Amino acid sequence: MKIRKATKKDSLQILNIMKLNSPKYSKTLARKEINEMFSKSLIKPTYLVAEEKGKLAGCGGFIPSWVDNNVYDIFWLSVHPNFKNKGVGKNIVRHLIKEVRKIKDPIAKLIIISTKIPLFFRNLGFKKISKKYDRNYILMGIVLK
Ligand SMILES: CC(C)(COP(=O)(O)OP(=O)(O)OC[C@H]1O[C@@H](n2cnc3c(N)ncnc32)[C@H](O)[C@@H]1OP(=O)(O)O)[C@@H](O)C(=O)NCCC(=O)NCCS
Repeated sequence: MKIRKATKKDSLQILNIMKLNSPKYSKTLARKEINEMFSKSLIKPTYLVAEEKGKLAGCGGFIPSWVDNNVYDIFWLSVHPNFKNKGVGKNIVRHLIKEVRKIKDPIAKLIIISTKIPLFFRNLGFKKISKKYDRNYILMGIVLK
């Protein structure tokens, strides 16, 4: 399995994975969010994809946070149902952390994630920042050293 930065050509497959896991989320908004990676915005997301034999098995993104210049948000971690429980999700998160670690100007010091599955992220080194962050979402973070 290869983890790499998404290209424009991946947009449809990414959208499909998002749709399968989050059917209630607006497709129009999801499309805009993906396309933002290829825009000229000052603050834009980077998506990573996991590819297996030419098919996308999962995706995940990060973006500089509005909270602070040294903080990055992870979002849209999503694994295709055919590839779940094979280590794809963990692998993507590890690569997202690795990519964010490379950012030196301004240096990345903290990665945050708002999630309903704290156990999954705890096993990857994230710690709870706020238990009742947003409805049933918990805010977690990992300090980069
Ligand atoms: C959550 C998700 C990303 C996990 O990806 P995955 O490739 O299936 O998981 P992996 O194979 O890498 O990891 C498996 C481990 O994660 C745990 N795990 C998987 N899905 C989980 C979930 N929904 N809640 C809690 N733990 C979960 C498994 O129990 C397993 O634990 P173990 O290593 O202790 O045995 C994937 O199920 C998914 O896309 N879910 C829907 C979208 C979602 O919830 N995204 C997270 C948004 S913050």
